[in-house]
Amino acid sequence: MVEAKLNVDASKFDLPVVKATEGADGIVVSSLKNDGFVTLDPGFLTTAQCESKITFIDGQKSILRYRGYPIEQLCEQSDFLEVAWLLQHGELPTKVQYDQFCLDLNHRTMVGEDFRSFMASFPRSAQPMSVLASAINALAAFYPDTTDISDPEQLDESARIIMAKARTIVSYIYRRRRDEPMLYPDVARGYVDDFLRMCFAVPYEPYESDDLSIHALGRLLIIHADHEQNCSTSVVRIAGSAHANLYSAVAAGVNALSGPLHGGANEAVLKQLEVIRDSGESVGQFVEHAKDNGARISGFGHRVYKCHDPRAVVAKHYLEQLMARGDVDRRLPADERALFDIATELEDIATHDDYFVSRHLYPNVDFYTGLLYRVIGFDAPMFTPLFALGRIPGWIAQYREMLADPQTKIGRPRQVYTGQVERDYVPMDQR
Ligand code: SDX
Repeated sequence: MVEAKLNVDASKFDLPVVKATEGADGIVVSSLKNDGFVTLDPGFLTTAQCESKITFIDGQKSILRYRGYPIEQLCEQSDFLEVAWLLQHGELPTKVQYDQFCLDLNHRTMVGEDFRSFMASFPRSAQPMSVLASAINALAAFYPDTTDISDPEQLDESARIIMAKARTIVSYIYRRRRDEPMLYPDVARGYVDDFLRMCFAVPYEPYESDDLSIHALGRLLIIHADHEQNCSTSVVRIAGSAHANLYSAVAAGVNALSGPLHGGANEAVLKQLEVIRDSGESVGQFVEHAKDNGARISGFGHRVYKCHDPRAVVAKHYLEQLMARGDVDRRLPADERALFDIATELEDIATHDDYFVSRHLYPNVDFYTGLLYRVIGFDAPMFTPLFALGRIPGWIAQYREMLADPQTKIGRPRQVYTGQVERDYVPMDQR
């Protein structure tokens, strides 16, 4: 076993090192707890919470792999449900396994009438991520016989229910916001095709699928499917470490993802592009103001990627394809089409500006995805629920890996106390 030597004053520690198959090895510091030391690492910049075999990111080389398969190959050759299986089971499915998985999900896509009434109880203007987190959490109440995570079949069933019903829930959130009826699933269609139908179909008109939108959204779901120990996944793991059921843990992940520094950035990017468009200033002037004020440009920067985010490359590719289509004028009014030009100019300026380059700030997954969701037909408040829809198989896979890991303990970080030392109470009339 490789060891790390740590000397603190007169104390010497030999700390075991866990060798990684790729990326950073891990120095195990748990033994320090007996010696009066804790490690301090705000934001966990260099702290691993677990060993994992699911996703590998190399932020210096723009590498993202799910179970060893490069994201680029999965986007070219796979589909979202196959990737969902891969993340959870560790291997690409056989045809029999894939067909059964699709059948299992198709037979669980519908929600009961009481759940539809529950969905209809939210104000139409409610914040979509609040509704999504509430709805995922409520699945535990509507399917109470699938909440005992010590029962493998109940855990499997809850995973199937979340995967199957999440897209129905997201389509209901979209329809309710527009005062449109919530549609029932059509299992004869594929996962993405039927999701778009449940969102966009007009009941009294025939619905025509759009293959490029289906393919582009399918790639968006794939690139969002997992991203190792990001903020929301860490929340899912730590909630699950207390043996909270899968619905509760995934709902916690949805809530964490809603933050504008995390999954909420895709919506913030569109607002930012609109501000630039309506400001009357040039993109270059906007960038200079951001630098002068130390302001954050939404969609830029990443904790792990210190060069371009490979997911942003995929999103931009499909956005360019949809923007180049002849019907884009019908899909996007001119003032919104202008946002794409602003985005590409913003990327070009920032990626050549030393302020950003020196800080390793490049477009992240959220920079182009909002525009792509927009040209597919969704409005900005739906962008982060769509991110969450993609991330669900990753959250499920990470939860299950955590639960199955014999090293897992309830997550309970320590602190370095720098507050008041002991002192006596002072009666009110003496203060
Ligand atoms: C996601 O972790 C994941 O994997 C997340 C995710 C996933 O798939 O789960 O990839 C999804 O959340 C993508 C990120 C979406 N967020 C945004 O686009 C919001 C804008 N970006 C940032 O706020 C920021 O870059 C973070 C939150 C993404 C990362 O922050 P870090 O790693 O904590 O970096 P930092 O705050 O320490 O910043 C380092 C420096 C600072 O400058 P100095 O103090 O050194 O002078 O870079 C600057 C920051 O001010 N900086 C930015 C910036 N992001 C960081 N400056 C301008 N614009 C930005 N966007």
